[in-house]
Amino acid sequence: MSDKPEYAKGLEGVIANESCLSDVQGQEGVLRYLGFNIQDLVEQCTFEEVMYLLHRRQLPTQGQLEVFTKNLRSHRHLPQGVIDFLKSAPKDASPMDVLRTGVSMLGLYDQRGGDQDRSLNESRAMAICATMPMMVAHFHRSRQGLELMPVRDDLSEAAHFLYLMSGKVPGEEATRTLDAAYTLHADHGMNASTFSARVTVATLSDLYSSITSAIGTLKGPLHGGANEGVIHMLQEIGSLDAVDAYIEDALANKKKIMGIGHRVYKVLDPRAPFLRKMAIKLTKELGESKWIDMSERIAHLMKERKDLNANVDFYSATVYYSLGIPTDLFTPIFAIARAAGWTAQVLEQLDDNRLYRPLTLYTGPTTDQPIKPIGERV
Ligand SMILES: CC(C)(COP(=O)(O)OP(=O)(O)OC[C@H]1O[C@@H](n2cnc3c(N)ncnc32)[C@H](O)[C@@H]1OP(=O)(O)O)[C@@H](O)C(=O)NCCC(=O)NCCS
Repeated sequence: MSDKPEYAKGLEGVIANESCLSDVQGQEGVLRYLGFNIQDLVEQCTFEEVMYLLHRRQLPTQGQLEVFTKNLRSHRHLPQGVIDFLKSAPKDASPMDVLRTGVSMLGLYDQRGGDQDRSLNESRAMAICATMPMMVAHFHRSRQGLELMPVRDDLSEAAHFLYLMSGKVPGEEATRTLDAAYTLHADHGMNASTFSARVTVATLSDLYSSITSAIGTLKGPLHGGANEGVIHMLQEIGSLDAVDAYIEDALANKKKIMGIGHRVYKVLDPRAPFLRKMAIKLTKELGESKWIDMSERIAHLMKERKDLNANVDFYSATVYYSLGIPTDLFTPIFAIARAAGWTAQVLEQLDDNRLYRPLTLYTGPTTDQPIKPIGERV
């Protein structure tokens, strides 16, 4: 055996830590949180129960859920400085940039931000999860010149976000749909943003910095940004009869189709079928089947031509679009849901911490290079 460390570009296939939170079985297309199948969780549990599961490592009893929910809702307040920032941020700023800055700002108001006491960190985790939806919704209202809605403590996470954003208490179906999308996005093994969060906190930096890193990482179009890319792509294609030519052209030019393919799942992403079902139902109710018809055709062609499957972002885009959510809030919604997993993962990291410090395969000169005086360099 060679004594040279193995090189895996992008850390593909490398195991970097241990976690009991989410089990991503890429070959079988199975996802479990703490041993509970995602298909069962999405059908039988609320997002708050799933949050409890990720944070307390068991499903709650009714009493435990009530205490947990009350605690979570008690954190629905933002420092005035953050509210002022949300109101004064440029109206055309990316909501992901606003969210990233807002979470970073939270750290300014925590006098003991660097203290890694576990119970303090648990409370910070709840505060981050409870306030991220507020930041997104408040910024969205503020950029439209609308008054911010007063927070309420009688609405679930999904209903409260929709209410803060639209000013109206949502119906049961919209709430249930967003709640399910939250559950499906809550955690997903060592994805890029979770890895960022763990790398940051492993230096014994603080929770706010860690979640700020994660938000910056999720933003990219190869990760959470893909859901926005799906809608932009559907809009660019325009109609069902233009799909085939678009896909042919994209494949010929090695252009990536957003919402298709996955680094770990080589079969169907287990989160996709539920979202697909919701997308079909919602578009039917709206009487506008164009988007789902186009999506189905794209998924069919990509399977046929490249043996690639739709991922979680492919159908969530149509679901959010059908709920009337603006496209640039799709990735922030992903972040709101994933905050449950990020915070659970960083607490787990701190419970058994080791600094991440991989190596690089150095490809530059390996001998001392002479330094010419600046005037002689070309
Ligand atoms: C997610 C993603 C980065 C995974 O990439 P990966 O595991 O590194 O897959 P690879 O890039 O090695 O892909 C293998 C082959 O499929 C192709 N491929 C993968 N995803 C593709 C896509 N979305 N559209 C077109 N072709 C794709 C690659 O070009 C490559 O083709 P080749 O063998 O002819 O060169 C990639 O599928 C992608 O960019 N998808 C679109 C963005 C997206 O939806 N991201 C959200 C993920 S949840």
